[in-house]
Parts: sequence; C-alpha cells; structure tokens
Amino acid sequence: MLACPRCRRGLDPDRACACGFEPKRRDGVLDLMTPEQTAAYAAFRDGYETLRRREGWGGDDLELPFEPRAHHDIWTVRQRTFKRLEGLLRQRLPEGGAALDAGAGNCWLTRHLEHWGFDPVAVDVNDGPVDGLRAGGAYLGIGDHFERVRAPMESLPFRDGAFRLVLAADALHYCPDMAAALGEFKRVLAPDGLIVVMDSPWYERERHGARAWESGVRAMVDRHGVSRDVAGRSRFLFRAAFAADATRNGLGFEVIRPWPGWRRTLEAASARFYERRLAAFPILVVRRAA
Ligand SMILES: C[S@@+](CC[C@H](N)C(=O)[O-])C[C@H]1O[C@@H](n2cnc3c(N)ncnc32)[C@H](O)[C@@H]1O
Repeated sequence: MLACPRCRRGLDPDRACACGFEPKRRDGVLDLMTPEQTAAYAAFRDGYETLRRREGWGGDDLELPFEPRAHHDIWTVRQRTFKRLEGLLRQRLPEGGAALDAGAGNCWLTRHLEHWGFDPVAVDVNDGPVDGLRAGGAYLGIGDHFERVRAPMESLPFRDGAFRLVLAADALHYCPDMAAALGEFKRVLAPDGLIVVMDSPWYERERHGARAWESGVRAMVDRHGVSRDVAGRSRFLFRAAFAADATRNGLGFEVIRPWPGWRRTLEAASARFYERRLAAFPILVVRRAA
C-alpha cells in the first residue's frame, strides 16, 4: 500500500528505498516525509500547535466527539455530523475496506472508522503528542488498531487506488492547495471508492466566507497574539471554487446537510438578518465523475 514519497516506487516501511529515502518510526508513528517536506511544513506545524494550545484544544477525553473537555458548542454540531457520517458509510460502503483519515490530528475519528469495519490509516503533518498523531497512541493503548503516517495530504505516500474511503474531517481547509489534495485523494482512491470532506466551513458565496474569515483572523490575532499568517492558515470552502477543483480532477460531488441543532440554526438566522452568513458544515460526498 505504501509508496516512497521521493520516487513513488512501492515502499517497505522497515527498509530504505532504492532511491535512498529512509522511513523512520517515532513512538509508533511512521514518518514518510522527505527532509524538504519537513522543512516546508515546519512553520505551519509550530504555528498551528501554538494557536491550538492558546485556543484550549488538545488533551481531550478519548471519547470524542462525545464528552469533550472544551469547545462544547463546536462538538455539539460535530456530534450530529458524526452520526450522519456513520449512517452514510453503513449505507454506501457496508463492506468496509482500507480507509484514509487525512489530517487526522489525534486520530479520534480514525478509531471510529475501525469500529465501523474499515481498516484505517491516519495521516497528518503533525505528529505532536497533544493534538497530533502521537496523541493517537492512547487509542492503541486501549485496543484500537490503525497505522499512523506523517505525510502531507497533497502528496500522499500511498499507491494508486489503495483506499475505498478517503476522509478529511475538519482538515481540507487547512491545506494551502486544496485542488492538489483532491487530486491526491482521487489518485489513491479505489475505482468504486468515496471521498468524504466534512467539518470544513462551507459557504455558497466566496464574499460571505471571506468576510467571516477576515473577522475570525482578526479576532485570533487580538485574542491569542499569533501572527496573521498563522491565524489565516485555516481558510474556508465555497461552492464555485470547490466545484472547479472537483471538475479539474474529474470528480463530482453532492452536499449533505446534517441539521446543526437549534442554537446554530438560530445564530444563522440572526446572521442573515444582519446580511452576514454563518458557515455551514455539510458532508461533501465526492466520487469519480460519471
Ligand atoms: C483541526 S485539525 C482536525 C483533526 C481531526 N481530523 C478532527 O476531525 O478533529 C486539522 C488537522 O489537519 C492537519 N493538517 C493541516 N494541513 C495538513 C496537510 N497539508 N496535510 C496533512 N495534514 C494537515 C493539521 O496538522 C491538523 O492535525
């Protein structure tokens, strides 16, 4: 299933590739990033960890999306999306198969994929112990089984067609080149597989997303003292750009909208009154265009 990140030949995780690339393991996480990739993502990783710490993320209970330690309003919406995802996967991929959790963070959703009958792999550029792949070791300690691989989602170290499910939860909008990531998701997807993008902020119109993003960035800079670059790294999805990226990659998609609950529904209505829009968090089901 693995491919060398440098030469793309099949890779044995326990030996150096013929091209000279050497896989490494640290606390159980397989590191498949080249030194160039590691350098390219270092600033993001440091900035992301600082921001997440100041925002009070990480160190959560193992039972996510239930019983979170903080950010209850976000997790309440995510619980609904999570339940909808479970039903959707049972219906559309009942036989399971290999699954990729792209931008897996602490792997809380990776372990659910395993419970639902998939054989999952967690991928992230962050292998940190609080909020990154090494935090996922806690699940392995209580009997879950999955592989953790440090790699960027826009250059995946896997062979073509390796996965029946590629999932990006709360992750695609962090990626500086979403079209490249979608292209990689398609490359590693089995012919009858599904890509699911969820928990990313979604707007029908770019101007609504841009306005919300701008005020979010300003608030993060003021509140947490991080740079604009760090605060602005997480962006948003909007229909025209996502449709263009999907079409460019030969993909089609449908938008499934789980009900976000009364609180978010009322907040969205009030925002409309003031000519603003709140982000929606739909489940985007993406597959090869017919
Ligand atoms: C907000 S967290 C989401 C974690 C988890 N998927 C969840 O649903 O809670 C976003 C994750 O995406 C990762 N990430 C951001 N850009 C990435 C990239 N280009 N390739 C792989 N992972 C990336 C971050 O390191 C982080 O762990």
